[in-house]
Amino acid sequence: MSATRFGKLHLVKHPIAQVCLAQLRHVGTDAEGFRRAMQRLGGILFIEASAGLGTKRTEVQTPLAMAPALALAKPVVLVPILRAGLGIIDGVLDLAPGAIVAHLGICRDEATAKPQRYYSKLPAVVADADVFLLDPMLATGGSAIEAVNQLKEVGATSIRLVCVVACPEGIAAFHSAHPDVPLWVAAIDQGLNENAYIVPGLGDAGDRYFGT
Ligand code: PRP
Ligand code: URA
Repeated sequence: MSATRFGKLHLVKHPIAQVCLAQLRHVGTDAEGFRRAMQRLGGILFIEASAGLGTKRTEVQTPLAMAPALALAKPVVLVPILRAGLGIIDGVLDLAPGAIVAHLGICRDEATAKPQRYYSKLPAVVADADVFLLDPMLATGGSAIEAVNQLKEVGATSIRLVCVVACPEGIAAFHSAHPDVPLWVAAIDQGLNENAYIVPGLGDAGDRYFGT
């Protein structure tokens, strides 16, 4: 484990994670490099965030004999917050190919930075699943708070938030709204600028990932 824990907050300091983060931050990284770094980092963050998942005993037949084995106790549901959360999905699916993917569309109003819902497709299984909410940026915290509100409304009880970059304002707001939900981040940055962007951050994650 290479995460330092502060209450519910886990800061992932793994050197490979930090190298991916440096590539994401670099203004000269193009969309292709940004995508690859985001996918790699998503996988590393997921490894850390999934370390405490419950398992159940099972058996598998090897070519020679039966062997004891472990399986995940509950289904895993990945919930990317559209759009930028999609950037984390591929790296996670490489590691958890059986995961279910549900979607929440939330974007910030450009003038107020308040979250606005525009899409929601949450299957009933979220109530009995280990849910990973994925979004690279925790800025004001509004989008993640709104997403967890929606997940709880449909009965989710095991929710983990996975972000790339957070800042103190977003962490405080998120903890205050959802003190029960742990989060994993690769960086805690200085704070927000006048446009509610994280500084130094990595810019607009969705625009950089999708090349828009
Ligand atoms: C970004 C980001 C988060 C949100 C974080 O999405 O991906 O969802 O902002 O900000 P907050 O913590 O202040 O809510 P954005 O609204 O830019 O939409 P996009 O992913 O479609 O680009
Ligand atoms: N959304 C982003 O993509 N970046 C920020 O810094 C804040 C919100």
